[in-house]
Amino acid sequence: MELVDLPHSDHGPRNATTIVLLHGFPLDHRMWRAQREALDRAGFRVIVPDLRGAGKAPLGRNATGMREYAGDVLRLLDRAGVRKAVIAGFSMGGYVAFEIARQAPERVAGLALIDTRAEADSDEARAGRAATADKVRAQGVTIVADAMLPKMLTSGAPDRLKEEVRAMMLSQPAEGVVAALLAMGSRPDSQPMLASIRAPTLILVGQDDPVTPPGSAKSMASAIPGARYQVVQGAAHLAPMERPDEINEALVRWLKELHAV
Ligand code: MLT
Repeated sequence: MELVDLPHSDHGPRNATTIVLLHGFPLDHRMWRAQREALDRAGFRVIVPDLRGAGKAPLGRNATGMREYAGDVLRLLDRAGVRKAVIAGFSMGGYVAFEIARQAPERVAGLALIDTRAEADSDEARAGRAATADKVRAQGVTIVADAMLPKMLTSGAPDRLKEEVRAMMLSQPAEGVVAALLAMGSRPDSQPMLASIRAPTLILVGQDDPVTPPGSAKSMASAIPGARYQVVQGAAHLAPMERPDEINEALVRWLKELHAV
């Protein structure tokens, strides 16, 4: 497996509980700005990478699947001297978090699964991703940004936020967007592993998330022993940016409880 070095930020005391924030598609580390600041203020060590092919991260030369995305993150943790971390994943970042839990459960101190889901794509969804990948190859990333923006944020979100998210999506390299589409389409079904997850788990989902709706987040929560489940009001898919205070509060409260155990 060919792995790449991920550009990342790393803030906070070396001996504090470490939380790694994994972004979604087609986004990069910037989606976590509010969480990075809040977690840093709360005294945690916070590592925020760009996943391969996103933001400033190299894509690697070979075909990419969830194994490679997860392997890159584990390599980053090795290099940062972190044996065990809380892994927080938003949407595609959640798919990567599941893969980390599959490859290296002993490295996972906790799982925060935010607007994500355990099930694999249907055949139809997989075919749709392949068709979108072809369009991105031919026409660039605008088509994905246009399709995703109304799902990311509620219609009432401030224009400033809509513009920020759209600009982040448009700045993603086309080849990284194509690779992510194909990797998401071929990701394994993580439902069979849910009952075996032993790490404390927090599940957060936007009330109006049309991509990974509360229904599927709730069934994921009931399948993971002891998982905590919270619906965030007034958010679509991109709850960490649309409702940062609610997400920060839920994360910090949960992390403090973990730390106390
Ligand atoms: C994401 O937000 O990461 C993606 O929309 C997830 C997906 O398309 O399955």
